[in-house]
Amino acid sequence: MKKVITYGTYDCLHYGHIRLLERAKALGDYLIVGVTSDAYDKERGKINGCQSVLERVEAVRKTGLADLIIIEEYEGQKIDDIIKYGVDIFTVGSDWVGKFDYLNDYCKVIYLDRTQGVSSTEIRTENKSIRIGIVGESTLTSKFRHECEFVNGVMVSGLCYEDILEDKKTAKDFSYVTDNYNDLLDKSDAIYVVSHPSKHFIHTKEALLKGKHVICEAPIAETKDEIEELFKIADEKGLVLMDSIKTAYSLAYQRLILLMKTGNIGDIVSVDATCTSLHNYDLTNEKLLKRRWGSYNAWGPTALLPVFQLLGLNYKDSTVISKIGNDKLNFDTFTKIHFVYDNAVASIKVGNGVKSEGEMIISGTKGYAYVPAPWWKTEYFEIRHEDTSDVKKFYFKIDGEGIRYEIVAFLDLISNGVKNLYISRDISKEFVKFQYLINNKECINI
Ligand code: CTP
Repeated sequence: MKKVITYGTYDCLHYGHIRLLERAKALGDYLIVGVTSDAYDKERGKINGCQSVLERVEAVRKTGLADLIIIEEYEGQKIDDIIKYGVDIFTVGSDWVGKFDYLNDYCKVIYLDRTQGVSSTEIRTENKSIRIGIVGESTLTSKFRHECEFVNGVMVSGLCYEDILEDKKTAKDFSYVTDNYNDLLDKSDAIYVVSHPSKHFIHTKEALLKGKHVICEAPIAETKDEIEELFKIADEKGLVLMDSIKTAYSLAYQRLILLMKTGNIGDIVSVDATCTSLHNYDLTNEKLLKRRWGSYNAWGPTALLPVFQLLGLNYKDSTVISKIGNDKLNFDTFTKIHFVYDNAVASIKVGNGVKSEGEMIISGTKGYAYVPAPWWKTEYFEIRHEDTSDVKKFYFKIDGEGIRYEIVAFLDLISNGVKNLYISRDISKEFVKFQYLINNKECINI
């Protein structure tokens, strides 16, 4: 009996897949189809498939062409499978020509002509094509535009900057650039707000009033009334309003939070997170200084997120200590916030003009989690115990610092109308609360 094996994602199963499977089957007597797992697809950069592995397996099963369906979970598995199942022929479409020649050592490799004019990518793009406009001056504008290229079903409609761009090259990255926000809104279905934090509220509000979904760098607003008004407009108009914190969507961060919740280090007693950056600023350029982000609005929400996700919002006490400058440097270059909970404490340290070790440590009754600097974009962390040889090491690949996964999450919310935000509204409001205290110097000033 001649055994044939082929692999694929088979998302939104289409005519091209069926033709490939028919021809693969015709090459022998028994066809094995490997369907990629969701985790493996993510690892190899296919990040926004429409269907889960169960749905994709079911679609392949329904074709009636596969004698056996297996799941492909790791790189190199093809060799294992070929040996394990005694495969004679490995085949895939011609888009992979050359890529699998190494399998010739194990069986015969045949590339079949790919069917022209159809692909899962095109189907996904047709199903949902969202135009995102970007408003702001920071270098994050270019990063975000670049990350959109990795996500199906989204295109960047342009950039609006109302002030001087941080980096002159940025404008060249965009095919459409304007200083008129209304023009950008007219060309967009959704907006990414990354303007100066003092403009987040107005940019978000104008977008929502025009019926556009919004993803805004946290904190979204500067006062409680403002953020409540924004959520009210979003609800009335059925629009998505979501905080942007790229770390929240990185796989390593998400897995760390889940591990902590399973009691891996016992009861959590302390969460300590530090995020800092240093930039050289021209202290004589008042226009640029006015546009500078303070340490809290640059880093605060990122550092607070693990505190709130692990310990909740019911803290008994909090203390904010900020280093706020004079008239020229009228923002916090450094902020420290302490929290006291019933059975735990937390502290964050953020700096934009003050540098420190950007690590995170979560201490528990049975051990601790150590996330090395820069923890907010780490792929790696350790769970350590009293016995120094008892260390569990975790590695999760992260592409694009989490931004592309965040864009996928935003699109999912838009297309499914789901209200289930990963960063809850209560947490969003809490970010705003601390912003207010610092803006109004209702904190200890050093
Ligand atoms: N295939 C094909 N003709 C097409 C599309 C896919 O012959 N028009 C083949 C691929 O070469 C592969 C198998 O079908 O052998 C599974 O491909 P998969 O990657 O799941 O499908 P694509 O449509 O190429 O998916 P995507 O657009 O996400 O890359």
